[in-house]
Amino acid sequence: MRGSLLAALLGLLVVLAAGKEDLGLQNFNATQFSGMWYEIALASNLEHQSLSPRRKVGAVIVEQNGPHLTLTSVTDHMNRCMKEKNQAVRGNAPGKFKFRSDSGGKEVIVVATDYNSYAIMNIVLHRGGKPSSVLKLYSRTLEHNEKATEEFMERAVEQGLSASDVQLLTKDLTCVNLLS
Ligand SMILES: *[C@@H]1O[C@H](CO)[C@@H](O)[C@H](O)[C@H]1NC(C)=O
Repeated sequence: MRGSLLAALLGLLVVLAAGKEDLGLQNFNATQFSGMWYEIALASNLEHQSLSPRRKVGAVIVEQNGPHLTLTSVTDHMNRCMKEKNQAVRGNAPGKFKFRSDSGGKEVIVVATDYNSYAIMNIVLHRGGKPSSVLKLYSRTLEHNEKATEEFMERAVEQGLSASDVQLLTKDLTCVNLLS
């Protein structure tokens, strides 16, 4: 009796400890996640120097092929639109993907999504010593989404960021239009 209670408590502790890590979404459904997402905000304390003050919205098209995801994205990088196509393989948890790359690697973790309006992804770069990460808010439309923005702020704070680290992107579709 006491043994099983202890085991249950230990199990709970393991779950609580695991919850502190960025585990990705439970029951992640790649089919529902597919399609077009606008990148409308980002948060990072590591990218201040390279952030242009009026960064344009970006976009990503997610396609599922077998166990992989193909991400075709366009982002405003220092006033230039950067288009990229990457294939991601599933990581060690649902909603967690790793990119094949020569340069050490990038990991994308789907932190939250309701599939039909918003998604929050954490992009972790393992380059050099310390991993750096950028939290991104994606939306199916360019309309302002109060609930998604609030959730994004909460997640940013959870990662030790503050409101001043959050940047809303300018509704300029120059980059996005390169995707179609
Ligand atoms: C994922 O979503 C699709 C479309 O809604 C559905 O057909 C499929 O059964 C879901 N897959 C899982 C594993 O839940």
